[in-house]
Amino acid sequence: MCGIIGCVLKAGSVAPILHKGLKRLEYRGYDSAGIATVYNGAIYLKKDSGKINEIHARLNLDNLPGSIGIAHTRWATHGAPSQVNAHPHLDCDERIAIVHNGVIENFLELKEELMDRRHTFRSKTDTEVIAHLIEENLKSGKNLLEATIAAVRRLKGSYALAVISSLEPDKIVFARNESPLIIGFSDSANFVASDVAAFIEHTRKAVFLDNGEAGYMTPSEFRIFRIDSGVEVEKRVIELTWTVEEAEKSGYPHFTLKEIYEQPHTISEALKAQEKYLDLLTEFLDRGREVFLLAAGTSHNACVAASYMFSKIARLNTIPVIASEFIENYGRSIGIDSIILAVSQSGETADVLTAVENARMTAATILAVTNVVGSTLTRVSRAYVLQNSGPEIGVAATKTFTAQLTVLAQLALRLARRRGKLAQYEIDELREELRKLPELVEKTLMISDKPMRELAKGLANARSIFFLGRGISYATALEARLKVMELSYIPCIAYPAGESKHGPISVIENGYPVFFIAPYDPTRKHVLGNIMEMKARGAKIYCVGTEGDNELRENSDWWLGLPKVHEILSPIIYVIPFQFLAYYLALERGFDPDKPRNLAKSVTVL
Ligand code: G6P
Repeated sequence: MCGIIGCVLKAGSVAPILHKGLKRLEYRGYDSAGIATVYNGAIYLKKDSGKINEIHARLNLDNLPGSIGIAHTRWATHGAPSQVNAHPHLDCDERIAIVHNGVIENFLELKEELMDRRHTFRSKTDTEVIAHLIEENLKSGKNLLEATIAAVRRLKGSYALAVISSLEPDKIVFARNESPLIIGFSDSANFVASDVAAFIEHTRKAVFLDNGEAGYMTPSEFRIFRIDSGVEVEKRVIELTWTVEEAEKSGYPHFTLKEIYEQPHTISEALKAQEKYLDLLTEFLDRGREVFLLAAGTSHNACVAASYMFSKIARLNTIPVIASEFIENYGRSIGIDSIILAVSQSGETADVLTAVENARMTAATILAVTNVVGSTLTRVSRAYVLQNSGPEIGVAATKTFTAQLTVLAQLALRLARRRGKLAQYEIDELREELRKLPELVEKTLMISDKPMRELAKGLANARSIFFLGRGISYATALEARLKVMELSYIPCIAYPAGESKHGPISVIENGYPVFFIAPYDPTRKHVLGNIMEMKARGAKIYCVGTEGDNELRENSDWWLGLPKVHEILSPIIYVIPFQFLAYYLALERGFDPDKPRNLAKSVTVL
């Protein structure tokens, strides 16, 4: 997730406006940034890696000539954060500059094709192919809008992009598919940006682009067309009422809630994880004598779920280990044929890095799933896959958890295929379920928000809450507990439902809230018995199960039915109600859900 902004001014210098807009978009990414303007028949460009303030201190981002320009703040997905990989990107002749937010899935194919036609690439990004495609189209006699439309018709994936050219110095051309893009307009300036936060100080009149739309803007007008047919479209003008602060959160009161609601998008970005790296990881996973899944916090809960995924469909036993325990528990027994799959959103967690360093010394193979290209973890691992979630501002992980699970499920599926452990129809079925995930998540968000908000009112004074699940839902229970505990500060317990009778059941007394996470999977047949055990001791049963499971519904005091989902994907769906519960409990109890006390987003101490 990156942030883009373009601005055409009637008069004056655009660079300071773009610089300020970038600051407003910084929450979307902050590993590198850049601005390009067009002036006097040439493109002017400043870009570098680092935070916007650092880059400004080095390059003075306010000082580029011209009244038309584009800018970008980056969250790397292809190519490490560096000066060359920072946006804007140029074509061979430096007559076009482009900024892009999204992931171009077929960029390698396009890049090879363009290199065969002697285009010179400067960066490792997927974006640069678009600049060269537009360059070719311009040379064949098209204008900038036609050239951009022809270029994006060749792209597979997501994009929000803005283009300027020294050949048509009075305009910005833009296009959108899947990544957000909004136009803001006024008498003195027109804007195009990933988010209204970038321009809300200048105008409150906005038009939201839809997928498959492209257009251009000059200081006096903007026009929008369908990419497929070229037909012009009329758009509704929206009068924005948000404050700048609200705009940064897309109108949500907190980043945590915004990020919970971003999950259909972040899951669909995680589904675009790069094929060749998934294959590489799969190959290594298949080779090892033993596989450890190494992580901390929420990422550890994702690993617990992953261990069920790997064994269920790929018949690979893996050991999920809490990073801070790894050296003591396994440090001396690992070696050259051990595989360590480290899962870390930030790629900077000290517990994970220390364990990885220890494993590296024994010549073990280090693999990673992370959200941050250029993080220490990406530098010390043999191969890694990105989850493409964009920055997560809420301290408690929400969208990055479900994105990790989405990547891990894809790995498990590939491994199953490689090992010949699933029949073709099962592979196809699971692929289809993965494809449908964003839709299912969208539905689950709709189903769960209100009931969980209501429920939080009743549970706000609970002294403790229990979370139980069997099979892969044990991982969901662990994450439900972690979310609720870290945001509401209510002490919580999570256990495998079958194990709860071996001890923890002794804490149950009249009215004690016990949540069951019970999707309709092979473990479901035993859940009823566990519910009965708890009920018999006076527990109040809250059950999240599959829609239509009347037996569980009738035996619960409170019930939420979720859509049917493939067993190994269920944590992605079933965690969502608990993200809401944690969020609303924090509000009910008067705590800031974005900044839970005593916690940090990235813990870089042991
Ligand atoms: C911290 C955060 C958690 C996170 C954990 C692991 O404790 O507060 O939310 O799950 O670190 O972070 P990582 O970046 O390695 O996934």
